[in-house]
Amino acid sequence: MPANLYRGQDARDIAIYVGKCAGNPNCGVTATKSAPARPTATTTTGTTGGTAAPDGKQVFASAGCGGCHTLKDAGSSGNVGPNLDQLKPSKDTVAHQVEVGGGAMPAFKGQLTNAQIQAVAAYVSSVAGK
Ligand code: HEC
Repeated sequence: MPANLYRGQDARDIAIYVGKCAGNPNCGVTATKSAPARPTATTTTGTTGGTAAPDGKQVFASAGCGGCHTLKDAGSSGNVGPNLDQLKPSKDTVAHQVEVGGGAMPAFKGQLTNAQIQAVAAYVSSVAGK
């Protein structure tokens, strides 16, 4: 594997993500190439008992938002959906869109927890256009 594929915050995010999602099908991964579901996981939903607020940037990455949306802070350049830096959606707009989907965008309710949806909405609305 080539060195320095990701640096700094990205590398940390990936580390956190892998640490959190390995063996945990409830971590919010919706990637198309995700591992087969493990049916019997009854373990934690988070490393600290499920009360820690999810990291919105991490949710953005793990849910695959960047595959369809450009968001500079997340380092993504997808162009299936609107460029979020230009759109600068409000938190409510993001949360609603993620929850119910719309147009060619799938709904994430059921794949992301409410807390994850709120976290990604807060994240996107706070960094879009920055
Ligand atoms: C499969 C591609 C795809 C993925 C994955 C995706 N989106 Fe979208 N998104 C779209 C498309 C297409 C639209 C435009 C929908 C429309 O025309 O109504 C859109 C619209 C939006 C909007 C604008 C809503 C509005 O009212 O203007 C926001 C905000 C948004 N997406 C955020 C996200 C976030 C956050 C994620 C990750 C949880 C995500 N999207 C994942 C394709 C995607």
